[in-house]
Amino acid sequence: MNLVKFVPLYRRFAIKVILQVSRLKKRVCIVGASGYTGGEILRLLAYHPYVEVVMATSREYAGRPVHYVHFNLRGIYRNLKFSEANIDAIAKNCDTVFLSLPHGVSINYVPKIVEMGIVVVDLSADFRLKNPELYKVWYGYEHPYPDLLKKAVYGMPEIHRDELRNAKLIASPGCNATAGILSLLPLVKHRAIDLSKIVIDVKVGSSEAGSKPSIADHHPEREGTIRPYEAEGHRHVAEVEQELSIIAGQNVVISMVPHAVSSIRGALASSHAWLVQEMEDLELLKLYVATYRNEPFIRIVYKVPPGYPDPKYVMGSNYADIGFAVERRLKRVTSFAAIDNLVKGAAGQAIQAFNIAMGFDETAGLLIPPLKPA
Ligand SMILES: NC(=O)c1ccc[n+]([C@@H]2O[C@H](COP(=O)([O-])OP(=O)(O)OC[C@H]3O[C@@H](n4cnc5c(N)ncnc54)[C@H](OP(=O)(O)O)[C@@H]3O)[C@@H](O)[C@H]2O)c1
Repeated sequence: MNLVKFVPLYRRFAIKVILQVSRLKKRVCIVGASGYTGGEILRLLAYHPYVEVVMATSREYAGRPVHYVHFNLRGIYRNLKFSEANIDAIAKNCDTVFLSLPHGVSINYVPKIVEMGIVVVDLSADFRLKNPELYKVWYGYEHPYPDLLKKAVYGMPEIHRDELRNAKLIASPGCNATAGILSLLPLVKHRAIDLSKIVIDVKVGSSEAGSKPSIADHHPEREGTIRPYEAEGHRHVAEVEQELSIIAGQNVVISMVPHAVSSIRGALASSHAWLVQEMEDLELLKLYVATYRNEPFIRIVYKVPPGYPDPKYVMGSNYADIGFAVERRLKRVTSFAAIDNLVKGAAGQAIQAFNIAMGFDETAGLLIPPLKPA
């Protein structure tokens, strides 16, 4: 029996339109979706106008609904269950894959997925560095895919927006690196500081360490702490130096000391540098405005309450609050960047870069104001 003739014409037209529009939606898979950044990508893509999340993988929770782990998503993804990360299923069902996997694990997936013509947004560090030699220095292994490193685009829109258009492999920046780079971009771009003496101090919340607690990050150990870590050379130094050197057009070296603090989310970079010449606050402010005027997710915080950028006021959002202070006596400038490490420092920035790569409005799915109080 031909059922089509029983469906009225206008309904058939509506179904056709719906099918066409849904085909325009990018079919997204999140690999490592049971973790924190995976959960944030799920949250932010839930109402993205041009995306349908069709797969979310987890080894441990395969077969369980995504809200079994991400309780905040209850009732939001009604039919989405975790599945195993099967490359054939990904190839069949997806246009884009977000990899929310640990460093050294993404590298096993990226070449195969890129080869299949699927766009990859990798949140790990596996493809962030251009120079393969640096992987030996900072990550302790020889990078097996130097050609893919050349193809990868560092997914920071404020620096690489043009290269991100039509990118096939996006290496999403680290959260401490994001805060550090965004704090320094105006000063480095306009050569306002001595590029050989820069110190980035980062305070970051516990979600930075991922969802599997280590002895040091278990709640009773982390709560109330202000603890420096990797103070002799944090891995993100490599990507910060890479990106700031591109901006400066010369070699930039930095020191970075992150501190684990007991908040759950949030990263604050306080970057110390020395002005090459006296500059009034207003002159400096103009550099910041010139750098970030057209950036949809950068807000300049200058002499307005609460004083300086504070991650508390970007929580849950893709915004980065940027500000500065000058100690005139020493010509020392401290530049601040406050982000939510899981959003502008991870999932939000990854989606922003993905939007650009796809030719979507860059802010699609991301125009969410921060929480207050948080
Ligand atoms: N957290 C942050 O603030 C942040 C910011 C920027 C970038 N990043 C980077 O983003 C990536 C993910 O971070 P995260 O915080 O989401 O970590 P996470 O919470 O630990 O999640 C990682 C997920 O990957 C899966 N996984 C772990 N080992 C695996 C393996 N060998 N094979 C396949 N799957 C594996 C796990 O899921 P199953 O065990 O269920 O399979 C886990 O849920 C990391 O590279 C991290 O450095 C994190």
